[in-house]
Amino acid sequence: MKKHKRRHLRHVTSQPQQRDEGATFEVTIERILPGGAGLAHAAGQTILVGLSAPGDRLRVRVERRSGAVAFASIAEIIEPSPQRIAPPCPYFGRCGGCDFQQLAYEAQLAAKVEIIRDCLRRIARIDFPENIPITPSPAAWHYRSRAQWQYDARRNRFGYFERGSHNVCDVAACPVLVPALEEQLEDLRTRMSEGELPPGATEFQAVAGDEGASLFPPVDEAGTREVTREIAGRRYLFSADGFFQINHELLPALVSAAVGQASGATALDLYCGAGLFTLQLAQRFERVVGVEAHPGAVAYARRNLQLSGATSATVECSTVGAWLKEHASSLAPLDLLLLDPPRTGAEEGVITAILDAHPRRITYVSCDPATLARDLRGLTGGGYNLQSLQAFDMFPQTHHVETVAHLSAA
Ligand SMILES: C[S@@+](CC[C@H](N)C(=O)[O-])C[C@H]1O[C@@H](n2cnc3c(N)ncnc32)[C@H](O)[C@@H]1O
Repeated sequence: MKKHKRRHLRHVTSQPQQRDEGATFEVTIERILPGGAGLAHAAGQTILVGLSAPGDRLRVRVERRSGAVAFASIAEIIEPSPQRIAPPCPYFGRCGGCDFQQLAYEAQLAAKVEIIRDCLRRIARIDFPENIPITPSPAAWHYRSRAQWQYDARRNRFGYFERGSHNVCDVAACPVLVPALEEQLEDLRTRMSEGELPPGATEFQAVAGDEGASLFPPVDEAGTREVTREIAGRRYLFSADGFFQINHELLPALVSAAVGQASGATALDLYCGAGLFTLQLAQRFERVVGVEAHPGAVAYARRNLQLSGATSATVECSTVGAWLKEHASSLAPLDLLLLDPPRTGAEEGVITAILDAHPRRITYVSCDPATLARDLRGLTGGGYNLQSLQAFDMFPQTHHVETVAHLSAA
């Protein structure tokens, strides 16, 4: 029998030419959306424009589409917003590290509060009536004590990923790094030019503490150095091989907002890392349990508890989901449950398990307003009241923002 080739009929639409990629539009940016892009409308379309400022009048070029939304780049600034400033970094726009340098600092802060409200409204269905205060970073530049650098040995490039790609943007200097990491970056670039970087290494993690920078993977026989930092009266030991917060100058304010004057018999610190909040809670609660999945971070959390003389706290090495599954029903009475998950938010099953554990109060520390809103929806739907929200500008020059939410059982 003769086989008939299936004919793939091309779907011909009668879309106007202005819906094509490459089309240009004149738009005014209305506001900044979660994700950092500016929102605009033209010819009946929703257009998201990267690196824009609210009030900018722009000619934009559509780069791609996803459903009804067009993603565009700036072709021409027709009239700059009063909130727009000249980005100081020569790599801005190409480097994927920062996406808010075009905004005056006050405008960055305002945009971040609006991003939080937007996520609460759309995702959590919460119209939060109260003010959301935002604490600025003590330093808007040279604040970053943690960095992840990419190395392309074939092209001899060292720096960050380019915006929207996995090509390495070769960066000789980065104005958001603390001086110890600027020096570390320079040292690694010198090693690259002298062919001294470890063969096969493509990514480096660096953190700075009082003793200088710690690097993973290490580039000399001394290995990955341990460093320390004192935060809110407690000294923390950590290294580049594991999580520690980025903006150390802002941490006392974050710790104070998250832990404050809380006290009681039992507290949980979920996603506890090297024990930032665990040590603080251990001063205020009779019993504290930290849960963390990264074995290196767990080891530091345990050592940090020991160094601070805290005997009331223990740290479990497990995913939060697996640990709660086993222990949620036996935790009551629980005075405080603090969680500080990664950007992806609480993993599947965690919010339900938290509801099963019935903590009197919940403190949610979040670095992503969208997943925070998703999880708040679960918690408020399960009977918790959202008492307060506070924002912290942990990541100046980017759209990222840290939020602390306090909830109490109804
Ligand atoms: C945003 S950090 C917070 C760490 C700590 N609270 C701090 O402030 O330094 C999130 C932590 O969650 C850990 N983590 C990620 N997924 C996890 C999971 N499923 N279960 C437990 N810990 C996890 C990471 O290793 C990281 O240490």
